[in-house]
This record gives sequence, C-alpha cells and structure tokens, in this order.
Amino acid sequence: MSAALEVRELVAGYTPEVNILNGVAIDVADGEIVTVLGPNGAGKSTLIKAIAGLVAVRAGQVRLFDDNIVGEQPHRMVRRGLAYVPQTHNVFPRLSVQENLEMGAVARRDAAAVADDLARMYALFPRLKERRRQSAGTLSGGERQMVAVARALMAAPRLLMLDEPSAALSPALVSLVFAKISEVRASGVTILMVEQNATAALAISDRGYVLADGRDRISGAARELLANPEVGELYLGVRKGLK
Ligand SMILES: Nc1ncnc2c1ncn2[C@@H]1O[C@H](COP(=O)(O)OP(=O)(O)OP(=O)(O)O)[C@@H](O)[C@H]1O
Ligand SMILES: [Mg+2]
Repeated sequence: MSAALEVRELVAGYTPEVNILNGVAIDVADGEIVTVLGPNGAGKSTLIKAIAGLVAVRAGQVRLFDDNIVGEQPHRMVRRGLAYVPQTHNVFPRLSVQENLEMGAVARRDAAAVADDLARMYALFPRLKERRRQSAGTLSGGERQMVAVARALMAAPRLLMLDEPSAALSPALVSLVFAKISEVRASGVTILMVEQNATAALAISDRGYVLADGRDRISGAARELLANPEVGELYLGVRKGLK
C-alpha cells in the first residue's frame, strides 16, 4: 500500500520555549484507519494540529501523499487532500446544517460534484437531511459531530483527521459514529483519528499508536494493541472501569 501520511521525528509546540511533541513518528497507509491513543495532555491534538499546519513544526518531517507539507499554509492543506475535524468548536453554530456542509466545499470549483457530494452526505447521515434547515448550534452533540464530519468530507479529502469524534456521546451514539467512520473509509477516504474511547476506536482500526509525553510509545496492529497488557492497563482497563 502507498503512504498517505508519514511523520518522522516530529518536534512541535505552541511557544519556542516548550516543545509538546518531542520526536513523533507515525505512518498511515492509503485506505487505513489509524487511531492515536494516549492520556490527557499527551499531545494527541497537538500532533493532529501540527500535521494540519496549525502548530509550529520545529524539526522533523511530515509527508502527505509523498509531498513534504511542513510549513504549508493551513488553508492550502485542503487542496492537498487533507481535512481535519477539531476536538471542539467544529461547526458554525449560527449557520444551518446545509450551510455548514456548503462551507466545507467553498474551495471547490466542481459545482456538479459538490451537489453529488451533498446528496451523498445526506444519504450517509439521514438525520442531517431532516435537519438541514436547522441551525447547527441547536443540534444534539451527536448530530453536531456528524455535521462536523460531513462538512470535512465536503472538501473531498483523501485523508480525514478526526480529533475525538466520540467525545461526550452516549454509548449508542458512540457506536453510530464509529459505524459511520467505517462507512467513510469504505467510500475510499483514509482516516487518522485521535480517541479516548480505545476499545471502540481500535475495533474499527487497522493500526494504532499510543502517545505519551509527546512521543509515540507503543504501536501495532489494532488487535495487538487490544491484547497488549500494557495498553490494557493504561487505557482499556481505565476506560472500562469508568463505564
Ligand atoms: N494553545 C495552546 N497553547 C499552549 N499550550 C497548549 C495549547 N494547547 C495545548 N497545549 C498544551 O500542550 C500539551 C498537550 O495538549 P494536547 O491538547 O495536544 O493533549 P491531548 O493529548 O490532545 O489531550 P486531551 O486528551 O485532553 O485532548 C498540554 O500540556 C497542553 O497544556
Ligand atoms: Mg486532545
């Protein structure tokens, strides 16, 4: 399989004095779902933001579909095939569902394909079609997460990065969101996601990484991570204990 994303020795941070990422290496092959796990503050969101060009990269390499993207402007990432759903504030609350989805396609000039993609989004998320005229700020948490994912997909990305897509959702909605993510992958989009919900995320993933203190500490096939006692103790057990 060819590489969608290659991250090597990535050092990044918000201020010149403090590096949050201290040498991270991850790979995502075309067509994969890869999950990044790790405790609060490990640097998971920072990793995704650094890839997206939103946090300064101080050293290391980030290659997207074989092109170096370090230093690329965030708004140009879309044209390179990268879309990103932030952990919070990921919809325009005052705009309608449909306007949110249309915003996702503003950089596209292929109007006919955009219209097709809008119809595809409503087929994937029938709930959003019902609510297309409602402002996104009035939706439930699960519906908002679907708007955020659908809006990112309206940019027609090849690689979609999701930061905690299941955060704060009920167990039934967690299952639904992960089922939708699997469908998105089946439609040909490669996925890199950050999750706290380790068991459910790994269940739909090919591979995973555990980040701690700004480094990738453990990596492997998703089923290996699920069976890894170190991972189990750190993340799976803790999460199960909370349920
Ligand atoms: N905008 C910011 N400015 C300065 N420091 C930040 C900023 N955002 C995050 N940090 C710091 O970077 C470190 C890593 O944060 P990050 O958000 O990447 O962690 P995370 O693994 O995503 O955690 P969580 O599971 O809580 O989402 C933390 O110490 C945090 O305080
Ligand atoms: Mg985070």
